[in-house]
Amino acid sequence: MESAKPKIQILPSLLAANVGRLEEACLRAENSGADGLHLDIMDGHFVPNLSMGPEVSRRARQTVKLPLSVHLMVMRPDIFIGPFIEAGADTVLIHVEAQSDTLMTLKSIKEKGRRAGITLNPETPAEAAFPFLKEVDEILFMTVHPGFGGQKFISNVLPKIAEIRKLVPTMDLSVDGGINQETAGKSAAYGINIFIAGTFLYDAGNMTTEIETMRQRAKTAWCSHTA
Ligand code: DX5
Ligand code: ZN
Repeated sequence: MESAKPKIQILPSLLAANVGRLEEACLRAENSGADGLHLDIMDGHFVPNLSMGPEVSRRARQTVKLPLSVHLMVMRPDIFIGPFIEAGADTVLIHVEAQSDTLMTLKSIKEKGRRAGITLNPETPAEAAFPFLKEVDEILFMTVHPGFGGQKFISNVLPKIAEIRKLVPTMDLSVDGGINQETAGKSAAYGINIFIAGTFLYDAGNMTTEIETMRQRAKTAWCSHTA
């Protein structure tokens, strides 16, 4: 019997938007056919950068209907899940490398009725995800070192994706960092179905065309993936 195929989704990352025009950037994603918006939250400790807080999520929630996926690059995600859920997050992604109790934090996201996911940094082995496979709705694979947009895709993360895809054939698996048409196609061939792209989509002349092309490329590449 053929297993259900997870839906291909393209999420622009607001980190690459003009910070002075965030509402416009949210609307641009929605009007371009995006499947959701990705919000990068940085605390200056877990990553060497600062970005946005719950107010940005709240404003995005008021501006668009798109699902909001909040990526917590913070040392203590347990402290921040409440404020971000209250500010409209539909999905909360925490890092397994952070200092909270991962299982407890995932459970508390689920108890609040939201999607919960774990994120793995490029060097973190697949085994780090194994204890949480039954608890999560999504696994996010960082394909750059978190903290900054505009970096180059690290392709040696791809075998780890294939390893996990074999274990969870229908789960949402996402990639974040250095995603463009070429790297999205490669990632899909290894089993990714959610593509997060900041610089590539916000710098695009036509975001609608790029999202549609990425969707088609991912569909084609997915057909060739044999996980
Ligand atoms: C990096 C962030 C990414 C970032 C990706 O720490 O998690 O979401 O926005 O940006 P690009 O697509 O420019 O690599
Ligand atoms: Zn991110």
